[in-house]
Amino acid sequence: MSASNPTVLVIGGAGYIGSHMVRELIEKNYSVVVLDNFSTGHRQLVTGGQLIEGGLGNVDLLRDIFSKYPIDAVMHFAAFSLVGESVQAPLKYYRNNVAETINLIETMIGHGIKRFIFSSTAAVYGEPEKIPIAENHPLNPTNPYGSTKLTVERMLADCDTAHGLKSISLRYFNAAGAHPSGMIGEMHEPESHLIPLVLRAVLSHVPIKIFGSDYPTPDGTCIRDYVHVCDLAQAHLLALQTLLEGGGSQVFNLGNSVGFSVRQVIELARQVTGRAIEAVEHDRRPGDPAVLVADSSKARRILGWSPVYENLEAIIESAWRWHRSQH
Ligand code: UFG
Repeated sequence: MSASNPTVLVIGGAGYIGSHMVRELIEKNYSVVVLDNFSTGHRQLVTGGQLIEGGLGNVDLLRDIFSKYPIDAVMHFAAFSLVGESVQAPLKYYRNNVAETINLIETMIGHGIKRFIFSSTAAVYGEPEKIPIAENHPLNPTNPYGSTKLTVERMLADCDTAHGLKSISLRYFNAAGAHPSGMIGEMHEPESHLIPLVLRAVLSHVPIKIFGSDYPTPDGTCIRDYVHVCDLAQAHLLALQTLLEGGGSQVFNLGNSVGFSVRQVIELARQVTGRAIEAVEHDRRPGDPAVLVADSSKARRILGWSPVYENLEAIIESAWRWHRSQH
């Protein structure tokens, strides 16, 4: 490791979760290099660090970066993540999420860099057999997006055996919220996630569609485990420390371990915004499991992770501040 503050390469640092990560790393005095091709990221979300424009398809660029900067660890947030699109265009997902990640890992190994933090997802579990979902739940993704993430997890395990690459894969449940500074937040286009769509519905006076009201849940709508994006970033910092201290490869779930239904999210958004929100019942969205709630006790126990935003109201409040400022 370099003598000065460790240097972290953040791939996808102009995206939603990556940009929050960059901010937290800078706050903690890490040196940060950001690589983003702006295919879904936004330049204005990068609030510090050395920003390089480019993608993982450009191996010469990767070699230059690893030669030029004293990178101690890599965090990889750059993936396509729309479940529906992944079903329509699987090869786009395998190319971007798997093949280009091979370029990255191969170049890292070639430069002797062996610490990697990977953004994985609850989608690796597929339809849950048991709630809450622990890390040892069977892995059975039901869409190409989940398959690409699981493929990379497996590739990382094999690269540990073969090359001593130490990795921590973090399986996010439903990332939500925005930075308390109000400077950065979620900016997906198109947007498909519930909380930003509910808040946009408030601002644009259009109804929010409830995708399915006949699920086997208390109010008939899907239940999810929402976790604040800054708490996700904190978990990455803990994972980074673990690897910098010589820790081994591991996998962790990241969620609050509390489930909220679509109707409960809309009701809380009504309370937070103080505005009426019209909701209309709609057909189910294909591929949505009824309930996804994390058992994240492993991250709490082993990483010492302790999410600050434990109630959904605070998560929605932070998102509301951001969306209002963007409107
Ligand atoms: N929903 C609506 N109306 C909307 C948008 C969403 O009712 O306009 C519902 C969905 O049907 C779902 C819930 O709100 O029941 C949450 O949907 P999101 O799209 O916000 O999030 P998902 O749970 O579908 O997706 C998350 C991650 C994915 C990951 C997936 C794992 O964002 O990256 O969990 O299944 F793949």
